[in-house]
Amino acid sequence: MAEVLCTLPLPAPFEEMVRPRASLSVLGRIAPSAELAERLRAHPVDVLCPQLRDPITADLLDAGLPTLRCVSLYAVGYNNVDVDAATQRHIAVSNTPGVLTDATADCTLALLLAAARRICEGDAAARAGAFQGWEPDYMLGMELTGALLGVVGFGRIGQAVARRALGFGLRIAYSTDVEVSIDADIQGRVTELPIAELLSTADVISLHVPLTDATHHLIDERALRSMRSSSVLVNTSRGPVVDETALVRALREGWIAAAGLDVYENEPQLAPGLVECRNAVLSPHLGSATVATRAAMARLTAQNSLDAIDGRVPTNCVNPSAWEGGAPPAVS
Ligand code: DGY
Repeated sequence: MAEVLCTLPLPAPFEEMVRPRASLSVLGRIAPSAELAERLRAHPVDVLCPQLRDPITADLLDAGLPTLRCVSLYAVGYNNVDVDAATQRHIAVSNTPGVLTDATADCTLALLLAAARRICEGDAAARAGAFQGWEPDYMLGMELTGALLGVVGFGRIGQAVARRALGFGLRIAYSTDVEVSIDADIQGRVTELPIAELLSTADVISLHVPLTDATHHLIDERALRSMRSSSVLVNTSRGPVVDETALVRALREGWIAAAGLDVYENEPQLAPGLVECRNAVLSPHLGSATVATRAAMARLTAQNSLDAIDGRVPTNCVNPSAWEGGAPPAVS
């Protein structure tokens, strides 16, 4: 029987889908890499289902050989996996695209609205007894109708954010480094701009790029200084896309007006000073955190694992070339 190891338990229907075809073990915590490697050597598995907090390095993949055939991620982002090393070792890597687009776009809009309209700052003031009644100039924020939203990265999630923002009367521009096909319902309602122009003209910047060498610190001190002092930055992609230390200075010193963040450079740590920035709305990596979305992610993770066990290229494989020379035979 095939062997599957999850580092953390996954929600239904993962277990009921996988159990008939594999013996399933769950580590129950995020272990140090050396410990996870030791576990793979002691109890070889065919499929490993790690979390986005588990670094899947070449050394760890080596520890899984010769049995490990698939790393089946419970996430769409796969920056924690050395995909080239996996490909060289003929290990497929799969993810869960599509099913978390709407939940992540909703979370982005929640952060955008909260940051632009100072909702969390107001909440804190109300709780602290600092609200002294309506005043003409108390806690004024940004008017969103007619404001320009700049979407950096215009894949599935970027476009879902644009679609929602159009409903709030924002104008939309985007920048992208890769060729994208624009969904029919928003075609003609969005404009492409070079990133430098997007940063310097948008009222709100929302980040939707994967974390790669090219996007690491894409939003650095220079980028932040080029943004409008009245602007809002929203990040629901990956923390290291933003230089968080520079962002704290930007928020403190008024280079930008506010930020809405769901992801952090060194999760779960926050950069020194970020917590004290009242103009930052901080959510703890909740982009895909709805019951329905997490169940859909579990279903895809299970399906990708079963595909690999049965010797089929996983439905959502990010490195199909790993099995270019032929898929391994089904595990009996
Ligand atoms: C992902 O899937 O990459 C998110 O960050 C967590 O759902």
